[in-house]
Amino acid sequence: MKEILELITDEMKKAFVKAGYDDKFALVSLSNRPDLCEYQCNGAMPAAKVYHKAPLEIARDVVKALEDSNVFASVEAVKPGFINLKIQEAYLSDYVNAMRIDKERLGSEKTSSPKTIIIDYGGPNVAKPLHVGHLRSAVIGESIKRLLKFQGHNVIGDIHLGDWGTQMGLIITELHLRKPELVYFDPDYDGSYPKEAPFTIAELEEIYPTASKKSKEDESYHEKALQATAELQQGRRGYRALLNHILNVSVTDLKKNYERLNVSFELWKGESDAQPYIAPMVKDMLDKGLAYESEGAIVVDVKEDTDKKEIPPCMILKSDGAALYNTTDLATMVWRMEDYHPDKMIYVVDKRQELHFVQCFRAARKTGIVGPDTELDFVGFGTMNGKDGGPFKTRDGGVMRLSVLLDEIYNDMLTKISENKSLSKEEAEQAAKQVALAAVKYGDLSNQASKDYIFDVERFSAFEGNTGPYILYTMVRIKSILAKYKASGKSAAGFGINDPATESEKSLMLVLSRFNQAARIAAEEMAPHKIAAYTYELCNALNHFYHETKILSQENEGVQAGYIQLLSLSLAVLEQSIDLLGFSAPDRM
Ligand code: ARG
Repeated sequence: MKEILELITDEMKKAFVKAGYDDKFALVSLSNRPDLCEYQCNGAMPAAKVYHKAPLEIARDVVKALEDSNVFASVEAVKPGFINLKIQEAYLSDYVNAMRIDKERLGSEKTSSPKTIIIDYGGPNVAKPLHVGHLRSAVIGESIKRLLKFQGHNVIGDIHLGDWGTQMGLIITELHLRKPELVYFDPDYDGSYPKEAPFTIAELEEIYPTASKKSKEDESYHEKALQATAELQQGRRGYRALLNHILNVSVTDLKKNYERLNVSFELWKGESDAQPYIAPMVKDMLDKGLAYESEGAIVVDVKEDTDKKEIPPCMILKSDGAALYNTTDLATMVWRMEDYHPDKMIYVVDKRQELHFVQCFRAARKTGIVGPDTELDFVGFGTMNGKDGGPFKTRDGGVMRLSVLLDEIYNDMLTKISENKSLSKEEAEQAAKQVALAAVKYGDLSNQASKDYIFDVERFSAFEGNTGPYILYTMVRIKSILAKYKASGKSAAGFGINDPATESEKSLMLVLSRFNQAARIAAEEMAPHKIAAYTYELCNALNHFYHETKILSQENEGVQAGYIQLLSLSLAVLEQSIDLLGFSAPDRM
């Protein structure tokens, strides 16, 4: 279905032409004075300059040309030349009925130019526990992926595990110290390695921080870790086998965590998957004369004349030949281009890494790794802060683990929800899971991604205000009305949504009619907060309508069935909207 604003603009264009004016002035927008009108057209003002006429005169001509339009209920020319519009009730109910019939898409058309898009998000580091810093990337990235998929793009999410840095050397070093007898450390061993990992996830999560601490205190330990990292990167068999164990154990654990967040990835690739592409990539850069040696390291210049601040060269290899963060990101682009030919690559990463991506993007373009037909986008997000304004921490000042945070919120929610005695224990637990997730995700996604925000568990968990639980509560309320209606033995099948009879009913329909536009814009701008704002607006309109309207006690069968259809559509639009945000609603709570 065409967006309603487009339909209205089309009608306006006809009127401009009929009145003798160019239709380029006929743009209609949502009213910024909802007390006066629903939509407005401000085209008479710029047209006045072209036609040397008073804007009000032009506005009046256009209004006259709209006299027998069946799109508008009222059209008014007001000083200095605004055209104020209210939509015809029947036109609006037709539109929302068409949405209702379009069960799959709810009136939202797929893009006419579907693209292949790789979205790089999540980015956890193997063997280190997930902390809240990784929350934002997962939550925002997942929503952007869903928004783009809904528009009909072919979107591939890649987790891009951090599995090629010094943390690997640290783990190997510590493991060597603890279990020197392991066959992985025997350089002469050429048999096959055990299938079973020589550690559990709990051990692994303890090994890494221990090793990291030791390496800071002990220079020779640090040296050993660097040596192990280099040997791993050069392909030492036993170390590669250990890396695989570390990866398997970590990934199993990560999958559980992401599942809990309702986040999933099409690809579970890591930095280490870029390894085979590094040597040929560097050779090519050197052959083309684009990379050169500087103080033993290999670098590519990426500064540009128009730079306002200095952009340092992109370092490709360290003087000891080791790969860097840049190296794996560039080599990752190599295989992504080869395997997927994407039209676009999106990186959802902490905005403090912006310089890294500026360097990588420029180096990729300059060296031809990424051609001009592929867009590169960096979606940098802000920091999640605690109530004190500093980075979010545990009560004792440590880094908050994601699983601990989720447990806390879940327990709070369970207490709240268990107050509803009509729910069974299982139902309450299931609902608490869903509401807790909505609290966390909506709390994040209702903010513009690039901004820092304060993670206020209490506020996010409230059942009132602009929160996830409020959205779910509204949906549960609608579900309950629909269930009661059904239980009374009635059916709205065969009935449609009636023309709106009250202000609140019309307002609700007006918000519903904007769903397709809201979803499209949020996807185009990679801005989940826009669909979050839409969802909130819809809930408000819905609650307003619900409070002012007798629904279950309505005696007229057709009127009541019309309400039920309107509520069903509202619920469907909300289900779709929160799915785009990455969470879901319980039936009861
Ligand atoms: N592992 C990185 C970190 O924790 C994030 C990875 C982001 N993605 C990328 N392609 N560099 O900071």
